[in-house]
Amino acid sequence: MSAAVPDPAILESERQTDRNLALELVRVTEAAALAASRWMGLGKKNEADGAAVEAMRRAFDAVEIDGTVVIGEGEMDEAPMLYIGEKVGRGGPPMDIAVDPLEGTTLTAKGSANAICVIALAERGNFLHAPDIYMDKIAVGGGLPAGVVDIDDPPAKNLRNLARAKRCDVSDLVACILDRERHAELIAKTREAGARITLISDGDVAGVIATAHPDSGVDIYMGSGGAPEGVLSAAALRCVGGQMQGRLLFENDGQRERARAMGVSDPNRVFAISDMARGEVMFAATGVTPGAMLRGVRRSGQGAVTHSVVMRSKSGTVRYIEAHHSYATKLWAAL
Ligand code: FBP
Repeated sequence: MSAAVPDPAILESERQTDRNLALELVRVTEAAALAASRWMGLGKKNEADGAAVEAMRRAFDAVEIDGTVVIGEGEMDEAPMLYIGEKVGRGGPPMDIAVDPLEGTTLTAKGSANAICVIALAERGNFLHAPDIYMDKIAVGGGLPAGVVDIDDPPAKNLRNLARAKRCDVSDLVACILDRERHAELIAKTREAGARITLISDGDVAGVIATAHPDSGVDIYMGSGGAPEGVLSAAALRCVGGQMQGRLLFENDGQRERARAMGVSDPNRVFAISDMARGEVMFAATGVTPGAMLRGVRRSGQGAVTHSVVMRSKSGTVRYIEAHHSYATKLWAAL
């Protein structure tokens, strides 16, 4: 019996749907960024986050998917919108959704760089259901030998191996690390090994993505941050290429139990990038405040300009979109 030949018309229609969907996602992150940007520098991180969540939730109503939030704002009883398990979209292909409506709430409140609104999307069952706890992470960009770094190796060994693979000296490398007390030893060992460091105050999704961005000047991301942010970062690296490993960090038995209930059977497991984001993945982000990857929202009397990136693992295309939104015609002007 010969294998069924895919119908070219169906393939073309699926391709078109994917491409349209990717652009729909950008509209959703744009809406969140426009809303959050109203709060930039006003010292109110919860208000900024709330505005982003509400705008993102509303914008999802126009997207043609049968979406389920798997990484979101928390459990149903702790988040009014975009909670885990919430259905979003106006109907269409079944999709799982990972969101961080405002990645960098404090960055926004302070008007500091690198706050972004983020969404990743995959076919059902393809994202790690990560609880809202810490995850240890290590990430490098694309084009490097598989396994060039390992989460279980000391920083000095990882940096040596990375320098060898990049044909440079360890002192040429820059590691991105969240500026936290818990990273004091990691920072000391990285410096001891001879690498340079860029300490970030928040926003490790952008920190991980920076490793895959040749102009960012970042070669490696190391350290712990949110596990949901880990899954979103993995989704982005799936699209642009890169390597990442993550391991959940538990502070108590309650967290272990919660992870088990969400499907994590081995709490010590090291998750590779494709354990966190499998299959075909789409990723979209819009800048709220100016950053290395994206410009922030710029407002004027006539409207606002947003800068977004959208990526698809299927095509590997990374598309930057500058959108000019007019107050005269857009309902979002009231946000
Ligand atoms: P928020 O946007 O929720 O404030 O998170 C920002 C962030 O810096 C993440 O990028 C990172 O994963 C996490 O917080 C780190 O957590 P902590 O601030 O507890 O170290």
